[in-house]
Amino acid sequence: MKSTAIVLAAGQGKRMNSKVQKQFLLIKGKPVLYYSLSCFQNSREIEEIIVVTGKESINFCKQEIIEAYGFSKVKAVIPGGKERYDSVYAGLCACEDSDYVFIHDGARPFLSNDMIRRGKEAVLDYGACVIGMPSKDTIKIADENGMVESTPSRNKVWNIQTPQIFSYTAIREAHEKARQQNMADITDDAMVIERFGNMKIKLVEGSYENIKITTPEDIVVAEKILEKIQKIY
Ligand code: CTP
Ligand code: MG
Repeated sequence: MKSTAIVLAAGQGKRMNSKVQKQFLLIKGKPVLYYSLSCFQNSREIEEIIVVTGKESINFCKQEIIEAYGFSKVKAVIPGGKERYDSVYAGLCACEDSDYVFIHDGARPFLSNDMIRRGKEAVLDYGACVIGMPSKDTIKIADENGMVESTPSRNKVWNIQTPQIFSYTAIREAHEKARQQNMADITDDAMVIERFGNMKIKLVEGSYENIKITTPEDIVVAEKILEKIQKIY
């Protein structure tokens, strides 16, 4: 039984507004991508890692991150696509012998071994699961005029993180179907299964520290989270 982590680092990081792409920005001296790779490298649940990045960053990734930090589980560094789901599809095509895939945002450095383990257990039972946390905020559904339409009950609302974990055949088949149709509003991997797959997706507890680096404030928060995590380990 083979589990592969597909780590996505092919985005432009427009909302970060920095010269260096956000997945390569340094947190306490090491690139954001280092932290997510490190967690998969050290997890017993993961056999190999595929890194998906921009064409122009492949050599940098190989030399400055994978070789520099000795990430021996990385099997390939491949070019991504225009949209996130294109990068995911490229990753899926690079690990056809896998039984399970852990699809993860390279810009989300603080996943943990515990959540990988919980995810693995859930995917064995359900075939598909996503890591997330109950929403701390009340969520409103807006109409097209910016007026409140409704309020879902807070205990039914989760903020979804990554990794998102699937049986390989289920996510590959769903992606193949989705690619024949319109994927324009697809923002995560679970949505591909929700629309084009035929299984229910289990929600699995992640952590509030498992943030995605998106805007400049997130770097400040990430430094604080890292200080806290390093105190524990
Ligand atoms: N990603 C990717 N390929 C894309 C778009 C995104 O591999 N075509 C990756 C990003 O590198 C990131 C993750 O998907 O690790 C989550 O995406 P997001 O936070 O939206 O990152 P960006 O698209 O880079 O940022 P922005 O939307 O602000 O441009
Ligand atoms: Mg994006």
